[in-house]
Amino acid sequence: MPSDVMIETRALTKKFGKLVALDSLDVKVQKGVIHGFVGPNGAGKSTTIKLLVGAIRRTSGEGLIKGYPIGSVDARRVIGYSPERPSFYKDWTAFDYLVHMAALSGIKPDEAERRSQELLNWLELSDFANVKVGGFSAGMKQRLSIAQAMSHRPELLVLDEPTANLDPDGRMSLLEKLKGLPREQGVTVFISSHILSELEFLIDSVTFINKGRTVAEDSVKVMKEEIALNRYVLNTSNNQAVMKALQGHASIQEIKLGNDGILHISSPDMGRLQSAVMEAVTKTGSLLKYFGEEQVKLEDIYRSTMDQGKDR
Ligand SMILES: Nc1ncnc2c1ncn2[C@@H]1O[C@H](COP(=O)(O)OP(=O)(O)OP(=O)(O)O)[C@@H](O)[C@H]1O
Ligand SMILES: [Mg+2]
Repeated sequence: MPSDVMIETRALTKKFGKLVALDSLDVKVQKGVIHGFVGPNGAGKSTTIKLLVGAIRRTSGEGLIKGYPIGSVDARRVIGYSPERPSFYKDWTAFDYLVHMAALSGIKPDEAERRSQELLNWLELSDFANVKVGGFSAGMKQRLSIAQAMSHRPELLVLDEPTANLDPDGRMSLLEKLKGLPREQGVTVFISSHILSELEFLIDSVTFINKGRTVAEDSVKVMKEEIALNRYVLNTSNNQAVMKALQGHASIQEIKLGNDGILHISSPDMGRLQSAVMEAVTKTGSLLKYFGEEQVKLEDIYRSTMDQGKDR
């Protein structure tokens, strides 16, 4: 049955012999978002992705794509997939390869040619349309693989570390293209990576995975708000003196001077904290440079969630 949820796994488990690669994994991804799938090497990202796209079979548990069981024809039709290490027939040109793959997915020849050209343009490969894929760089192959994944206009694009082989310019350019997919083409994107800085501006929601288990999952905004709650940063011309003046104040739970040279404060009462800060700045004759809520990065969420999941 079709569903508003694009991806859902329940207690999805995959064993390779004795090795438990996925240990009762729960993932839920809404339609129309860009969802990051983040975890260290060996966490189980590629294994999950291979299960979702139906490339390998699960040991137990279940998974649904738009309500269809993973591995079913209906589920596969929804997905475009670019693997971690794409492989190609090296004697084919990029254009012939795309047309061939589009034809295999049931697209008529005329449309297959038109669509392939469009995708080569989109991924800035049109100058190499008639070049044999064997001569492509790793980054070009990666982009060609994404073109192929998009050829049948999938509703869900699944990308396993798509930027791993790209140079910084290529990486930025690809991320910008991906960013527009939900809004411009109604595509949901599921993207695995361990480069948090690049996911920072791309994703709406995220699953953190470690040792085959979901450690945390939510919208990035909600996660950031949870971490930022009651946390403030303060920078003055004399942070040591201001810290001393503020220490022990009733509105402050914790105050410390960070490695970044500025003060980090936990306080449940922003109003009283603000008065205390003004008083301390005046009293110490310091100059106030900045006072505001802590700006949380994806990296901070990662550290905080992985610390929580450490003992599991
Ligand atoms: N075909 C296989 N046979 C045996 N073990 C496997 C197989 N595929 C994966 N594994 C093991 O399963 C675990 C999860 O691997 P997986 O490739 O899913 O991790 P990953 O999160 O994608 O890591 P990376 O960031 O390095 O790509 C690892 O311990 C890996 O060695
Ligand atoms: Mg992997």
